[in-house]
Amino acid sequence: MSLTMVNLAVIGLVAEVFVGFAVATFNGNLNYASPSRRHSGLGIDVPRVSMRSLKRDAIAYKAEELSFTHGIASGDPYPESVILWTRVAPSLSSDASNITVEGPVPLYSHETQNYINADPSPICVNWNVFLNETGEVVSSGQGFTTSDIDYTVKVEATKLKPFTVYNYQFTICGSNITSPIGRTKTAPVANADLLELKLAVFSCSNYPNGYFNAYGNAARKDEQDYFIHLGDYIYEGNAKGERAHEPGKYLFSLHDYRTRHGQYRTDPDLQLASQNFAWITTWDDHEVSDNGYRDGSSALNNTEQSFLNDGFVSVDQRKMNAVRAYFEWMPIRQIDLDDNLRVWRSFQMGNLLDLIVLDTRNYDRSITSLGWDNEYIEQISNDASRSLMGSHQENWFYNQLSKSSNRGATWRIIGNQIVFSHISASSGFSGDNWNGYVANRNRTLKHLYNNNISNTVFLAGDSHQNWVSDLVWLDEKPYSAETGDGAIGVEFAGTAVSSTGFNGLIAPARAEAMKLVDENRVLQWQDGYYRGYYLLTISPEKLEARYYGSPSVATRNAWDLPLANFTVFAGANKLARPVAGGSVEAGFVKGGVTNPTNITLNTETWEWDIVGFDKMYITT
Ligand SMILES: *[C@@H]1O[C@H](CO)[C@@H](O)[C@H](O)[C@H]1NC(C)=O
Ligand SMILES: *[C@@H]1O[C@H](CO)[C@@H](O)[C@H](O)[C@H]1NC(C)=O
Ligand SMILES: *[C@@H]1O[C@H](CO)[C@@H](O)[C@H](O)[C@H]1NC(C)=O
Ligand SMILES: *[C@@H]1O[C@H](CO)[C@@H](O)[C@H](O)[C@H]1NC(C)=O
Ligand SMILES: *[C@@H]1O[C@H](CO)[C@@H](O)[C@H](O)[C@H]1NC(C)=O
Ligand SMILES: *[C@@H]1O[C@H](CO)[C@@H](O)[C@H](O)[C@H]1NC(C)=O
Ligand SMILES: *[C@@H]1O[C@H](CO)[C@@H](O)[C@H](O)[C@H]1NC(C)=O
Repeated sequence: MSLTMVNLAVIGLVAEVFVGFAVATFNGNLNYASPSRRHSGLGIDVPRVSMRSLKRDAIAYKAEELSFTHGIASGDPYPESVILWTRVAPSLSSDASNITVEGPVPLYSHETQNYINADPSPICVNWNVFLNETGEVVSSGQGFTTSDIDYTVKVEATKLKPFTVYNYQFTICGSNITSPIGRTKTAPVANADLLELKLAVFSCSNYPNGYFNAYGNAARKDEQDYFIHLGDYIYEGNAKGERAHEPGKYLFSLHDYRTRHGQYRTDPDLQLASQNFAWITTWDDHEVSDNGYRDGSSALNNTEQSFLNDGFVSVDQRKMNAVRAYFEWMPIRQIDLDDNLRVWRSFQMGNLLDLIVLDTRNYDRSITSLGWDNEYIEQISNDASRSLMGSHQENWFYNQLSKSSNRGATWRIIGNQIVFSHISASSGFSGDNWNGYVANRNRTLKHLYNNNISNTVFLAGDSHQNWVSDLVWLDEKPYSAETGDGAIGVEFAGTAVSSTGFNGLIAPARAEAMKLVDENRVLQWQDGYYRGYYLLTISPEKLEARYYGSPSVATRNAWDLPLANFTVFAGANKLARPVAGGSVEAGFVKGGVTNPTNITLNTETWEWDIVGFDKMYITT
């Protein structure tokens, strides 16, 4: 062996060791696995990214050129760990390059002894989790980020104590440039005897449609343990105005979806809520495309036409882009790397509850109402083969319900997108909710009734209106709308953070609510006027739901009106009577009165005055 050969072998070994080390460090940022490390072409080619970073004179960003562009976030709490998120970048804009997917492999030049056509060196970020009281750092680590993942950083902070509030902060390595200090909370252990848990539930936050007052008000009131978002967290459409969508077009490419996520994360109320609470999210249709299903959406058929039109892509490519941007920008765990479309997952919160999060939309849903096929969907809505979830998820869902009941958890909370209950709106059949998938609904109810599974609480968003119902297998089981007897649980469906609901004045909205409640046996309360959210306070004895309404999202404001309160006693499997204590502030409640004490409505101008709202929730 000549000397040169020995040298080469040594160099080879050193390079290999270095690449191995670099890959390990890159893996500290979970987004390099997004959406799937195990499927080449879908995930990031980490060895290639770290090869690029070997370039000796690769331009390294100076710390002063970088900033935390979109705040910080945390999510998916487990008893010992939580996901932390941020973005560190040279600019607010999303990076258009997707070099690892389609770009050239970095080449090694023997002449310059360096790699050519490489990107700037990776950005290094340190993170710390600490106890506020003592400042003691209890978990810390380092991660890299690059343009490949739009400069996002997603790490799992481990070795934490259950059901504990922590602070966290990111720092750009070798500098004093820090992120804001965040606050998060781990989950309780599965067998903890938990006395109370509070969940704030949100859906349908359409940025151009209005301000995210619901996020801000809930964050400032600081009552909930966790934020739950049931989807339509971003919208893929184009909209002009004061809060015009960026980019100003429908989303198709990876860059489009990244830019849109980035725009939403500039909102101050979203940033406040992300910084101070752990979020548990799932997606609805608009994270990808309106009325999406397994093979398409209302604005995109799975045909050649879809990519012949300028700027269009195939359904699968578009979904892949949306999903990749979602995993990059949301503090969510990807719990199955072999299943890059999977967001359905569950959380055990002590003996108190299991939160079972579904994907009734993008995973494996049978065809839905797309506009042109509505009559056809109505005709096939009873078809036994139709599923909202696909068989893999459906079987998992029923098993989760049984497992949760068998382990003795008091409550089963279902984080679901679309309204579950059998409700017909006078406007006609909508096949885009569970009404279009009757067999799937029947199978769910059958599983609950046949296995005596109690205390199931469906949550829903999507519809932009409030709907509170007893959970009933109508026409199969006896049910009294008056007493609630015969029901197997309850459903709390919420309005939107900012998406348009009834879209009319308060009096006609109330009249419509009365009509809907009269026409539908299971429906106990309805309101379509207010934007807002609801807060669930859950204990071993009872579950309380408090609905809050934002009377205007045209401005950033702190109006946060209590609309209606509901109680469900453990074991009762129905709303406590009289429903809402017999009195609500908005909409219409079965057998009760609507008695607005917070609002006086001037019926001449149709303007309202809000009595005694609390200005202290506004901070700048
Ligand atoms: C730390 O705790 C104090 C006292 O409870 C509180 O005022 C402060 O806001 C906390 N800091 C953070 C960053 O959460
Ligand atoms: C961080 O700040 C301290 C105190 O101002 C200063 O002494 C130190 O040099 C700074 N370190 C860096 C890396 O900028
Ligand atoms: C990657 O970039 C190329 C060139 O800009 C573009 O044509 C392609 O659509 C991009 N791929 C994705 C997945 O966005
Ligand atoms: C999808 O196909 C249906 C049936 O051919 C057609 O009516 C509809 O306009 C198409 N939609 C789009 C967005 O191309
Ligand atoms: C669902 O259950 C209802 C009530 O028993 C029944 O009328 C309907 O035919 C069932 N549909 C399917 C598809 O199972
Ligand atoms: C459910 O309860 C009924 C009535 O108490 C009982 O007959 C039945 O065996 C129970 N079924 C299961 C699966 O526990
Ligand atoms: C609901 O309960 C809360 C807390 O007790 C109370 O402030 C609010 O006024 C109640 N709302 C209604 C509509 O009764």
